[in-house]
Amino acid sequence: MSKQHSATIAARAGIAQDSAYGAVTPPLYLTSTYELKAFKQPGKYDYSRSNNPTRDLLGDALAELEGGAKGLITGTGMSACLLALQLIGPEDTLVIPHDCYGGSYRLFLNLANRKKAFKLVVVNFQQANWAEQIKAAQPKMIWVETPSNPLLQITDVKAAAELAKALSAILVVDNTFLSPALQNPIALGADIVVHSTTKFINGHSDIVGGALIAKDAAVGDELKWWANCLGVTGGAFDAYQTLRGLRTLLPRIKQHQQNAELVVDYLQKQPLVGRIYYPGLKDHPGHAIAKAQQHGFGSMLSFDLAADEAYLPVFFEALRCFTLAQSLGGIESLICHPGSMTHASLDAATQKAAGIGPTLIRLSVGIEEAQDLIADLAQAFAAVDAALKQNTKPQLQQSEQASVAEKNEQQQFRLNPALSVLW
Ligand SMILES: Cc1ncc(COP(=O)(O)O)c(C=O)c1O
Repeated sequence: MSKQHSATIAARAGIAQDSAYGAVTPPLYLTSTYELKAFKQPGKYDYSRSNNPTRDLLGDALAELEGGAKGLITGTGMSACLLALQLIGPEDTLVIPHDCYGGSYRLFLNLANRKKAFKLVVVNFQQANWAEQIKAAQPKMIWVETPSNPLLQITDVKAAAELAKALSAILVVDNTFLSPALQNPIALGADIVVHSTTKFINGHSDIVGGALIAKDAAVGDELKWWANCLGVTGGAFDAYQTLRGLRTLLPRIKQHQQNAELVVDYLQKQPLVGRIYYPGLKDHPGHAIAKAQQHGFGSMLSFDLAADEAYLPVFFEALRCFTLAQSLGGIESLICHPGSMTHASLDAATQKAAGIGPTLIRLSVGIEEAQDLIADLAQAFAAVDAALKQNTKPQLQQSEQASVAEKNEQQQFRLNPALSVLW
């Protein structure tokens, strides 16, 4: 039979494989350990930190969807990132993008600076000389996140893979923002793909999880050894839930994208919207590359509110369909302020350098009826407009002061990374 399409692979992962009772839906194996067949005769499974049948089904399905040899399931997206970093050591250099997810940035920075785990070079992949900067760094590993969070900047994965090959470096791509439904980095030349399965892959905002897919079996085996050694493998129940979410990945993504396009159309006509960051727009600097390397433009987008920062609370408080929350990729629409939420672990200078402005707003467009989402945004913009017309900013200055106090508190978290548990 010819290779199946992604929708079929996702929907049928583990279906009708139960040899015990013929269960159509694969059972959830909630066991920590497994009985030996006889003395000195272990079966396929011995201990669930190392291997678990439910977790293996999810790993195999993601490996197939991403076109890799091995899929490993971890407890969180961050532990998938940590796992990939086991391939480099103190003498090696890791190149990361300047605008990667704040939690990844914190991990790289603190492992490099406080643990001397590797040398770190931060590169702006949007600069014309990005390849020269990487060549000069002579890295052992290159980390790419495309589209980036929260500005949806696009990196040419094929070009990065060619460069990595020439430098004998390992190319890791964080594919969280698109999922295997919309981008397959291994087909573009990447060696390793990481995911926060918390996002689109599970898709229901009820599980935190991660995955790492290795192109080569030998690399996958080495990382499987590390996953067991470090104890970062994911729980069986989480894998079961994620497998259930994965079954509807393709139809969910279709609806997410359709809605995102309609929301972008609306935002383009809204006077209180400044710049829109969405790779589907023809004037987006990464549009052509996104079109070539992605199977769609996704449902993540950001925009600048064209009003003073003081009006952000008015906007957020008026919303009913968009929930103000971290995270993304669930069926429900979420909205966030990257500067004070997802990217608060970047200090002010790093945020500025990364292009994260004070009124930047990020949307994760869900699968609700698009007209309801648009109506919700419209009434929130109307609330801002009314506040602007009434010149009610003096009243808002109080909350502005509160946000200064909060920012100082956040700065404390940043200065003492041990306290920085929130981000
Ligand atoms: C691009 C990206 N990578 C990795 C992570 C980390 O994933 P998790 O929160 O599941 O640990 C996130 C979380 O938001 C993310 O957005």
